[in-house]
Amino acid sequence: MSKKLWGGRFTKNASASATEFNASIDFDQKMYKQDITGSRAHAAMLAKQGIISQEDADAIDNGLVGILNDIEKGSIEFTIENEDIHMNIESILTERIGEPGKRLHTGRSRNDQVALDFRLWTKEAAFSILTDIKHLMNSIYNAAKNNQNTIMPGYTHLQRAQPVTLAYHLMAYFQMFKRDYSRFLNCIERLDYLPLGSGALAGVAYNTDRRFLADKLGFSGICSNAMDAVSDRDFALEFLSDASICVMHLSRFCEELILWSSTEFGFVEIDDAYSTGSSIMPQKKNPDMAELIRGKTGKVYGDMITLFTLMKGLPLAYNKDMQEDKPPVFDAAETLSDCLNIFADMLDTIKINSNVMEQAAKKGFMNATDAADYLVSKGVPFRECHAIIGELVLYCIDHNKAIEDLSLDQLRDFSLKFDSDIYERIDLRSCIKAKKSEGSTSFESVEKMLKEAQAYLEELS
Ligand code: ARG
Repeated sequence: MSKKLWGGRFTKNASASATEFNASIDFDQKMYKQDITGSRAHAAMLAKQGIISQEDADAIDNGLVGILNDIEKGSIEFTIENEDIHMNIESILTERIGEPGKRLHTGRSRNDQVALDFRLWTKEAAFSILTDIKHLMNSIYNAAKNNQNTIMPGYTHLQRAQPVTLAYHLMAYFQMFKRDYSRFLNCIERLDYLPLGSGALAGVAYNTDRRFLADKLGFSGICSNAMDAVSDRDFALEFLSDASICVMHLSRFCEELILWSSTEFGFVEIDDAYSTGSSIMPQKKNPDMAELIRGKTGKVYGDMITLFTLMKGLPLAYNKDMQEDKPPVFDAAETLSDCLNIFADMLDTIKINSNVMEQAAKKGFMNATDAADYLVSKGVPFRECHAIIGELVLYCIDHNKAIEDLSLDQLRDFSLKFDSDIYERIDLRSCIKAKKSEGSTSFESVEKMLKEAQAYLEELS
């Protein structure tokens, strides 16, 4: 009978199918680096505390470095008999250095080991997502900076509502990704506690030094209840929630680019490098990257739901269900990172048809609210103005005209308060300029947003 690391109390091997079913090495080998980093720190701590000898710790350390190099060279074959990355590395170590390898697992369990590796992996992934979000925020900032004077229709219910600048519209997304950035930062802050040293669930009977481990492994503190430390996957749930919100923002942005690049809108043209053709219709240029990002959003949500469902109802402490916690996090991290980067590249190269945008803003009575505001400025109560302009718009629709196409006499049929300054007031740029509230689309306000964004981005880098 071939002996497992835990095989002592067994008289029979697991069946081939159970061995395969039980193994996680296929996916958790992604954490080889974290596993080795954790084990090296653990061995150093055990030696410092006199739990193992310094010679053993040195042998372990050299052994682990050798394994790390060999994994990176691709010269190590993992086996499903050794189940997961933790036992694979431990058995290779023992094969290579003998006796000292067998002392490495003193004062820890696979439960705190996997909790450590997974936290380290997720922390790194979150940092790398931060870089990706920053990259995208830079692209949005640049696009906004170049389009401060590009006028477009702002929509509600996907109906033309009020004129805005493209910079303003883009900076709305900037705010969303800024919040996403702070959510991931927050996630890192909360996960930054060391689970190692918790043992299986109850702590360990050795004089370990968990603060030393936390320092060595770059954690801001230690998990303060061992049972919580091995049972908790909040950090992964949080990562997946943050990823879901972030990819949802991307998906909305993609939806707009897809609409805007249609012939019906014609507001933008996505660069050839980020479009594809049709196998049958020679004229087609499809916004596939944007559609794929929108589609992949479903995958990230799925990852989040997978882990929430997996964790729901699990009794404390570790349960093998939790082995399934990694694939959704790995998938979400990779998917989100790809989406963020490809989106940023797509945005950097997009062509803006500012004339088409401005023409569109001229139709649809986008200045109707401003016409009402004009009457308010002449002393008419807002509700009354709303009714007057409503009737005026109806008249214009019937006669196929814009408000500004009517003569002053025609306007006066609706209200005697109209004067010749109305035309200047309902000009698109005046409508935008007239916004006074903080955070509005006015040119001045967007200029301020851009300044703040620039300072924020500079502080991040
Ligand atoms: N491969 C396992 C996982 O990912 C490691 C922990 C196993 N612990 C246990 N008690 N069986 O969850």
